[in-house]
Amino acid sequence: MTLIGRRADTARLGELLRDTRLVTVTGVGGVGKSALAAEAIGRLGRGRSGPEVLRVDLAQVRGAAAVRRRLAEAARRLPDGGWRSAVLLVDTCEHVAGAVADGLDVLLRQRPALRVVATSRVPPDDGPGGPGAPGGADVPALDGPGGADAPSPGAAAGGARRRPGPRGATLRLEPLAPDDFVALLESLTPGGPFADAADREALHAVCALLEGLPLAAGIAASHLARLRPDRLLERISGPSGPLDLAVEEPRRPARQRSLRASLRWTHRLLTPPEQLLWARCSVFPGTFRLPDAAEVCADERLPGDVLPAVFSALLRHGVLAGAEHRPVRLARPVRAYGMEQLVRLGEEAAFQRRCLDWTMGAEGTSAG
Ligand SMILES: Nc1ncnc2c1ncn2[C@@H]1O[C@H](COP(=O)(O)OP(=O)(O)OP(=O)(O)O)[C@@H](O)[C@H]1O
Ligand SMILES: [Mg+2]
Repeated sequence: MTLIGRRADTARLGELLRDTRLVTVTGVGGVGKSALAAEAIGRLGRGRSGPEVLRVDLAQVRGAAAVRRRLAEAARRLPDGGWRSAVLLVDTCEHVAGAVADGLDVLLRQRPALRVVATSRVPPDDGPGGPGAPGGADVPALDGPGGADAPSPGAAAGGARRRPGPRGATLRLEPLAPDDFVALLESLTPGGPFADAADREALHAVCALLEGLPLAAGIAASHLARLRPDRLLERISGPSGPLDLAVEEPRRPARQRSLRASLRWTHRLLTPPEQLLWARCSVFPGTFRLPDAAEVCADERLPGDVLPAVFSALLRHGVLAGAEHRPVRLARPVRAYGMEQLVRLGEEAAFQRRCLDWTMGAEGTSAG
């Protein structure tokens, strides 16, 4: 498969894998983590001298014991007892991150010629308190050039010559740039690209609503096989936006059959306060900062003193797009999903009101 708009990311992942034995590709659901990881390790595996390439998908795996079993099975499939270089893709880790981190720590120490690419919607937790996810563990580096494939006698005897290796690296994948996204949607659409100016205008508007997510491009393209772009635009311009646009392809994982299913997967990974803040933040029409979220969203159910940690967690999960200490926003589908939750909680009117007060206050301040 040819990836669109990921040349720099593919090159970067290749570079990281030369220096680091564990790289975690992170980013929001459907942004293309698995596709990028598969492409990068596929490139490494080309040629007779390339490493053996293996993949384990943990999407259906639950619980630490099952994770250990899957990683142990993968270890058994590694070539030559693990001395020939190999790259293992451990796909979809976010729901079992701690168990994956523990398992990979062991595996990477046992297999000195192994490199791992993990994908996870949530970046590894390498903050104080130790590793909480893949990439957070200290991993011994591969031995120097040429040494990676050769057995090391010390290691074989169980007394590996350890030097302080690099920590696992993280590559954060952002949504596609607008032009790349349009090109992707056109390349996936039967009969595309569109020549008619009105079709192209509607197509660009559709793309703007889909926020650069390749998953959404694939779903939209399957509808463009039957609908003209202006009809599709009409369909996804409503309050729930593109959430319910779905594809029924049994080969696809269930979480990738609609943006709603993709966001539900993320929602289920969150704690109740994180879910609540997501819902409440959906009242912000544009960008906002932590103090704004505290002003509008905090109350006795979501006290101000816990809000900074909850806000950070939403950033880590990609629910809030942006970076710590900078203005953040909710992508349209994410906002639509949050708003539905807020309505379900019966809190919509109250928090819309608080947001309006905040807007007026902000305007008052800037006017004064
Ligand atoms: N750059 C790209 N060019 C073409 N197709 C892409 C690109 N990136 C992703 N895709 C396709 O988009 C869909 C979603 O991508 P992918 O499965 O890699 O997302 P993901 O980030 O791994 O999602 P999840 O978090 O649900 O695992 C897949 O069908 C994939 O093949
Ligand atoms: Mg994936």
